[in-house]
Amino acid sequence: MKTIRTTRAIRRETKAARASGHPVVLVPTMGCLHGGHLSLIRRARQLAGANGTVVVSLFVNKTQFEPSEDFASYPRSLRRDTALCREAGADLLFAPSDAAIYADGHSTFVVESRLAKRMEGASRPTHFRGVTTVVAKLFNLVQPGAAVFGAKDWQQAAVIRQMTVDLDFPIRIVVAPTVRERDGLAMSSRNAYLSPAEREQATVLHEVIGTARLAVKSATAPLPAAALRRRLMRLVDKQRLAKLDYIEFFDPKTLEPAKRVARGTHLALAVFFGSTRLIDNGRL
Ligand code: PAJ
Repeated sequence: MKTIRTTRAIRRETKAARASGHPVVLVPTMGCLHGGHLSLIRRARQLAGANGTVVVSLFVNKTQFEPSEDFASYPRSLRRDTALCREAGADLLFAPSDAAIYADGHSTFVVESRLAKRMEGASRPTHFRGVTTVVAKLFNLVQPGAAVFGAKDWQQAAVIRQMTVDLDFPIRIVVAPTVRERDGLAMSSRNAYLSPAEREQATVLHEVIGTARLAVKSATAPLPAAALRRRLMRLVDKQRLAKLDYIEFFDPKTLEPAKRVARGTHLALAVFFGSTRLIDNGRL
């Protein structure tokens, strides 16, 4: 595996990889890799085949953090990440500096203006603009045939899929399942911020999804979203250290809010533990 720091070098390396005629598959990350990221890299390895090229990008993208958020303190562990990428089967690790991606005078952004508005977008107004901008830049630099994203960030994957269609990127967007800890908590770089007591209560996100699933399964007709939301909110309220940001029910493809909840409706939620914000989602 080769580590690459400049945009010039990643263009050169991926151009050569494409010329070989074998697939090039990209996995964008912000590093501090965990089992969720590694499952995406393994999936990319399968998609690329033995002769293809798996590119993992590792870039803590400041434009997707709100001013009040944890950009400066976001965990960084390049040495450990390098070893993990190699083990998981990556060929190229693209770890550019801030200046390599955002040169002085950078003033162009990519905005998806429909799907990005609700849920994460409502709570974090400039977040998706940062995500779509950096992912568009990575797509241009690497020009992969496919890119792999995690279902953990369901809305992000939907926004990126829309951007890919709208801007005519000839790239297949693959979404891989959420990887969880043994007690159901979705793996996340931000789990490291949780105190032991918060960590214990953080399983409530997964519990909310499970409870909603059970409610849908045992209902004989679609459930009114408002009533189900109130019931699930009480579950979160019971956890002393948890503060609910949102619980939403929606169509998994269009992200249109659902007034009635039935099998196949998607649920997403965000919960604060102190200043740590955790998200999760699942199909009901
Ligand atoms: P990051 O949070 O590092 O996540 C990188 C990729 O890993 C995303 O596609 C995310 O959905 C996926 N992922 C995270 N936790 C996961 C889990 N438990 N199971 C499966 N997949 C998981 O998402 C970003 O970075 C950034 O917004 C990025 C797309 C890299 C743009 O900067």
